[in-house]
Amino acid sequence: MTQRKTTSKTTSKTTGKTTSKATKSKKKPRKKATDKAPRQKAEPALARALRVDHAGEYGAQRIYEGQLAALEKSGAADAETLATVREMLEQEREHLEAFNQLLHQERVRPTALQPAWHIGGWLLGATTGLLGAKAAMACTIAVEEVIEGHYADQVEALEKSATGSPALRQKLARFAEEEAAHRETARASGGEEATGYPALRFAIRGITKAAIRLSERV
Ligand SMILES: [Fe+2]
Ligand SMILES: [Fe+2]
Repeated sequence: MTQRKTTSKTTSKTTGKTTSKATKSKKKPRKKATDKAPRQKAEPALARALRVDHAGEYGAQRIYEGQLAALEKSGAADAETLATVREMLEQEREHLEAFNQLLHQERVRPTALQPAWHIGGWLLGATTGLLGAKAAMACTIAVEEVIEGHYADQVEALEKSATGSPALRQKLARFAEEEAAHRETARASGGEEATGYPALRFAIRGITKAAIRLSERV
């Protein structure tokens, strides 16, 4: 009984309160420095650029896959057109692989919208493919025009940047040339002769631009 009173007195002199020990035990443990270390290696601007480029190439691959599925199923395209679409799809897969590696290297996460582009890209390709070979080519013209412009903007930004990677700039410039070649192939294959071409081009350009803006943010 006497001992308990002494302990209580000592605590009271130190803190002015009788619960000093209880207050101490409620303090949250400090976080270790390693808990706060960012996973992402790239600067935010570079991470954003790589994320949107990866999303674009992923979407492009899905568009060509959708086109190919629809054109093969409907029999609306001749062997030469099918070979052309397969060739463009192969090149998109190479572009996508390059960004897969860059994302891994720079520890950048892909867009959270990838599942949407998986379905949306395929549907866009399949829908235009079902409208016919020329509509599929019209879709290619519209998408590639936007993507080519997007890469050109990034190349220009890297040229102006003091810290921009020359290797990345060269890679993007090469991809822009290949996207432009896809656009020209689609023009030569009669894309501009598709029924309702101006409206189709306008709508698909709008969809592509919106997808780019969303992939930059999410
Ligand atoms: Fe591409
Ligand atoms: Fe392309």
